[in-house]
Amino acid sequence: MIKARIIGTGSYLPEKILTNIDLEKFLDTSDEWIFSRTGIRERRVAAAGEYTSDLAVHAAHRAMEMAGVTAAEIDLIVVGTITGDFPWPATACLVQHKLGATQAAAFDISAACSGFVYALDAGMRQIQTGVARRVLVIGAEILTRIVDWQDRNTCVLFGDGAGAVVLAPSDGEAGILSTHLHADGSCWELLYQAGFGSRNPASPEGLEARLPFLKMQGNEVFKVAVRSLSEVANEALEANGVTAADLRLLIPHQANRRILEATAKRLGLADEQVFMNVERYGNTSGASIPIALDEANRAGLLREGDLVLFDAFGGGFTWASALVRW
Ligand code: ACO
Repeated sequence: MIKARIIGTGSYLPEKILTNIDLEKFLDTSDEWIFSRTGIRERRVAAAGEYTSDLAVHAAHRAMEMAGVTAAEIDLIVVGTITGDFPWPATACLVQHKLGATQAAAFDISAACSGFVYALDAGMRQIQTGVARRVLVIGAEILTRIVDWQDRNTCVLFGDGAGAVVLAPSDGEAGILSTHLHADGSCWELLYQAGFGSRNPASPEGLEARLPFLKMQGNEVFKVAVRSLSEVANEALEANGVTAADLRLLIPHQANRRILEATAKRLGLADEQVFMNVERYGNTSGASIPIALDEANRAGLLREGDLVLFDAFGGGFTWASALVRW
C-alpha cells in the first residue's frame, strides 16, 4: 500500500488575546485558579466577521506554501471541526471555494477534540488507495462562540485557532505509520452541545435554557481522558514495535496541562518529549494538534526520521492516535 506523508504544515491564531486577568473582570474566577487547574494563561478569540473557514484558509495557505502545492493540485479537503461556519454545508466546502481548489472533494469530520486525527486518517486512506495525491487536512475551531460566558466551569478552558497539513504519497521511510481510532457513544452527555439539532430544535425556550452552549462534567472527562490518551498511545507504540523512549515528540491534544502531565507520566515520557502550548491558546479542540505540530515543525524540533505521536481525546467520547515517521 502507498504510504501517506506530511509535506507541509501551517497554522493560524486570531490576533485578539483574552488573558485570565481579562476574564477576572466579568467572571467570578482568578488567574491563579485557572492556571493552577489547567495551565492556561490566555487564549485567542476570533474577530467579528472572522469565521471558522477563514481560520482554516489561513492555516491551509501556510501549509500549502511550505509544501509547494497550489490550490489546483488539491484532490481532497477534510476539515475536523465542531464549530463550522454553519451546521451545513460542510466548512470544507467553504474552504474549497475560498482557496479556489476547484478539483477538490470536500467534507467535514465531527469528532470533537479528536477531529484532526480522525480527519488525518480519512485523508491518509485516500492517498493509500491511490484515489488522491494531494490532500489538505485541517483542524479549525471557533469555540469562543459556543461556550457559555456565564459558566466559569467551562468558558475559561477554550480558545480559537486552526492548523493544517498537506498529505502526499511517500516514496521513502517517512510517512504515517499507523492510526488508531476509538469511540464510546455511551458517554455523550459528559461533553456536548444540546441545541440546536433534531433533538432540541431552535426555540426561544431553548435559548433561555442556554441549550446552544457547550456543557461538560469536567471531573468525569478528566479521568477518562487520561486513561484513554495513554491507552491509545500505547496501542500505537505496540502496533509498530517501538517504545515511548523511541519517540522524539508526543503531540497531544492540548486539553489542559494536568491531563497532559498525567498522560506523559503514565507513558513514562520525559518533559522534553511532550509538546505543550496550552498556556498560550487554551483548548482549541480539533485545531490543537495541527497548531502544535506546526509550531514544533517551524521551531525545528522535528528532524528527518524522528518518530512523532499524535494523541487525542474528546466529546463523543472519541479518542485516537497517529504515529508518524518524519
Ligand atoms: N474559577 C474559579 N473557580 C472555579 C472555576 C473557575 N473558572 N471553575 C470552577 N470553579 C470552582 C467550582 O465551582 C468548584 O467550586 P465548589 O467547590 O465551591 O463547588 C471548585 O472550583 C472545584 O471545581 P472542580 O470542577 O472540582 O475543579 P477541578 O479541580 O476538577 O477542575 C477542570 C475543573 C479544570 C474543568 C477539570 O475538571 C478538568 O481539567 N477537566 C478536564 C476537562 C477538559 O479539559 N475538557 C476539555 C474538553 S475534553 C478534552 O479536551 C480532553
